[in-house]
Amino acid sequence: MAKISAIVLAAGMGTRMKSGLIKVMHPLAGPPMIAWPVAAAFEAGVDDCVLVVGHQEEKVRAYFAERGDISFAVQSEQLGTGHAVRCAMPELAADSTTVLILCGDTPLITARTLRDMLQAHAASGAAVTVMTAVLADPYGYGRIVKVQDGSVAGIVEEKDASAEVRGIREVNAGVYCINREFLEGAVAHLDNDNAQGEYYLTDVVCRATFHGLRCASYPVADAEEITGVNDRVQLAEAGRVLRSRINRELMLSGVTMVDPQAVYVDRGVRIGRDTVLHPGATVTGDSVIGERCDIGQGTLISSCILSDDVVVKAGTVLEQSTIRDAAVLGPMAHLRPGCELAAGVKIGNFVEAKKIVMGEGSKASHLTYLGDATIGKHVNIGCGTITCNYDGVKKHRTVIEDDVFVGSDVQFVAPVTVGRNSLIAAGTTVTMDVPPDSLAIARAPQVNKEGWKLRKANG
Ligand code: UD1
Ligand code: CA
Repeated sequence: MAKISAIVLAAGMGTRMKSGLIKVMHPLAGPPMIAWPVAAAFEAGVDDCVLVVGHQEEKVRAYFAERGDISFAVQSEQLGTGHAVRCAMPELAADSTTVLILCGDTPLITARTLRDMLQAHAASGAAVTVMTAVLADPYGYGRIVKVQDGSVAGIVEEKDASAEVRGIREVNAGVYCINREFLEGAVAHLDNDNAQGEYYLTDVVCRATFHGLRCASYPVADAEEITGVNDRVQLAEAGRVLRSRINRELMLSGVTMVDPQAVYVDRGVRIGRDTVLHPGATVTGDSVIGERCDIGQGTLISSCILSDDVVVKAGTVLEQSTIRDAAVLGPMAHLRPGCELAAGVKIGNFVEAKKIVMGEGSKASHLTYLGDATIGKHVNIGCGTITCNYDGVKKHRTVIEDDVFVGSDVQFVAPVTVGRNSLIAAGTTVTMDVPPDSLAIARAPQVNKEGWKLRKANG
């Protein structure tokens, strides 16, 4: 099969974003903007991809560092789209025969559209196929000038267009399929004799026509796919579209969303059927959520694994943790990174945990801090329990074995181990290891001074 390479243009700064960060690295539903068109190109069947980078190129390189099928071409001065493609040519795979060109700032383009366009390009035998759209307001886009047989004669930029050409509503989407051999020659011959003094990629089309080669148009079915992101308003709009696509897929696969417009799920998150997401639920990173879970209002789940039947109540934040079947978390609970909770664990109101392992059926129902702890099965952690894990220099572990009952308001001064089946009396500060099957109690004996109140009142 013929080999296809992609070129994605991403050298520009994107000044209208008014940002310290280049436009294409702004996140959209998880990954940076540029990841979307790159993923669409690969999903459509391209074999490799050259990214044209310039401003903050190190950020783009770092993001794709592990990809062997992506290479980089540096365009240090942005002299135009044609110049950008010229910079990419030496990086193209030697054996690719077709080049798919797209822009890093059009994240809504879909793999299905690109695949369809590549097929149409191969079938027509045209040297160039340009994606077009008919817009109610074509302002700012290059206009498509066609000849009688429907082929494209040229593309004229807004700033170079006559009043008559400006009246054309069919615009250049900025996506092209081009015969590689033809492209090599065409970009080498571009000039910058135009209103903007730039090397226009669109002049490649005129060159094809001039040499008697056919230039076809590929009208995109849904013009939304070609909308570019130039400012933060368009960024938000693109995010909305991408999230609604993600949510739609999830709903069609059996996930319930009470109000899909208020559910924020990153690309790549997996969620099982019959799980319900309530408004404000945000699931990010590479999180995986099982079946029949209930994800409450205003929750944040970041890079976590949840098995089946887990309940996450309102206002809970879960980070980089693993939670097994039927655990119940929240409301207002916080798992910081590194927690591993077994089946049936309960973490209740205002409980914060960090780097803990908690065995089956164990509970910390209220107002507790558990850090750097290993807690066995069927342990009850009373209200107000604190693991004192930090001595100002080092972190230390608390170990609580199976079937221990911890009363309310207990502090564990780590490192400390409580043997299985022991009871820690309420109000105890545990500073020594507790053997199994024991009672540990450490609190000042209570003194009642009878009549004290009356004596005080009588002076
Ligand atoms: C371009 C097209 C226009 C089309 C529009 C669609 C040209 C001359 N015009 O115009 O016909 O309707 O896209 O959105 O091609 N870039 C570089 N290096 C450069 C210049 C641009 O990498 O030297 C990148 C930008 O970062 C951006 C993309 O190419 O991602 C498009 O560039 P932009 O300047 O936005 O082109 P338009 O003027 O919008
Ligand atoms: Ca643009």
